Amino acid sequence: MGLLIKGGEIVTAETRLKGDIFIENETISAIGTGLAVPPGTEVIDAAGMLVFPGFIDPHVHIHLPFMGTFAKDNHAAASAAALIGGTTTFIEMACPSRKDDTLETYHTWKQKAEGNSACDYAFHMGVARYDDKTEAQLMEVVKDGTTSFKIFLSYKNFFGVDDEEMFRTLKLAAKLGVITTAHCENAELVAQLQQQLLAEGKIGPEWHEPSRPEAIEAEGTTRFATFVEQTGATGYIVHLSCAPALRAAVDAKMRGVKLHIESVLPHFLLDKSYAERAGVEGMKHVMSPPLRDKRNLPVLWNALKTGLIETVGTDHCPFDTEQKLMGAKAFTQIPNGIPGIEDRVNLMYTYGVKRGGLDIHRFVDALSTGAAKLFGLYPRKGTIAVGADADLVVYDTSYRGKISAATHHGINNYNGFEGFEIEGRPSVVTVRGKVQARDGAFVGKPGIGRLLRREPQCN
Ligand code: URP
Ligand code: ZN
Ligand code: ZN
Repeated sequence: MGLLIKGGEIVTAETRLKGDIFIENETISAIGTGLAVPPGTEVIDAAGMLVFPGFIDPHVHIHLPFMGTFAKDNHAAASAAALIGGTTTFIEMACPSRKDDTLETYHTWKQKAEGNSACDYAFHMGVARYDDKTEAQLMEVVKDGTTSFKIFLSYKNFFGVDDEEMFRTLKLAAKLGVITTAHCENAELVAQLQQQLLAEGKIGPEWHEPSRPEAIEAEGTTRFATFVEQTGATGYIVHLSCAPALRAAVDAKMRGVKLHIESVLPHFLLDKSYAERAGVEGMKHVMSPPLRDKRNLPVLWNALKTGLIETVGTDHCPFDTEQKLMGAKAFTQIPNGIPGIEDRVNLMYTYGVKRGGLDIHRFVDALSTGAAKLFGLYPRKGTIAVGADADLVVYDTSYRGKISAATHHGINNYNGFEGFEIEGRPSVVTVRGKVQARDGAFVGKPGIGRLLRREPQCN
């Protein structure tokens, strides 16, 4: 049976038009006005609503062993929350630590997601050390359709790679035509500053930001860009948080370095005063790179509006308050991360499009189309076109509400955006033509999400 989404205002990264979308066999088979459809077609009335392509979150952690614990999430819950918020595809970081085997890690992450995610998904393959065995295994991973790598310049002795390993990873990525995503902070400087601050008795969450100042992120960004330039690779900076790092990245882009920039939801809306709150309230807002001085926020918004920042992810990485309290005696023990997968679209729509002058097409590009193009998912995902997967978000711009842990659908016991107003939310969300969410509730089938196999995209 077909599905007709009727009379909505269809908004893509390039176009805006009123019309109908007809879906058969998981894909969009016609777009037009007054489409004639076969008897028995299910009709969704989208009059007065916007219809967006399904949103893509390019930076997500669901299964994550980190800082002596595990992120508080699973694929069933995270994907349902994602769908309620309009995200129909996520790309998860498969993160080995230095002692882990790459291929085993890849299979572990695949097994965790398989049959459990209610939306489609892909992986960035983490590289935590580089030797001949790792190289051979990374080639297998790419052959399996996972065509992006992830490296950490931070988290010394855990996820982090050294310069030689970064160089060899980028060389391999260039040879294979795959993109390398990178967390850009100088690991050694962070480790030194952390020890210095603790030795001075500075143990609270308010010292997290001073232990990883903007200059340390700018250094990581510059070094990553230089390595990308010298290896001929394509790089993607994840969760860029501040003006000095942005300047370093833009400087490299202006030299012609193939470099792309992502920022994430918390850095557009929250500043370091949230992490300076006393006790667990501050700990809830500890992430890396840290929340910054508020003067950075308009810089990030302007860079997003002009397209210097190309994509917006979440860095969804939930730890509950009990886990956050592991760092009660030392900020260095607070598990880093904050959830956001359910809230990205509504918050960016509200504070960007509705209240902040962000062009609606730029919004679609930054939250969907751009990531689809960079990570080899386009035009199957990231647009509304005949032949594309029918991942659609019928968006109700008249909705008014507030973000709260009392009403969110993630399994974490707090929400870092508690109390933020939202103006708009998805009314109907489809994954390959199946209605998976309606008006703030998951109504679909769990476990129907598929792993998206991709081709190398940087040739
Ligand atoms: O604080 C964060 N961002 N936690 C997740 C791991 C990472 O660095 O992306
Ligand atoms: Zn990171
Ligand atoms: Zn991350």
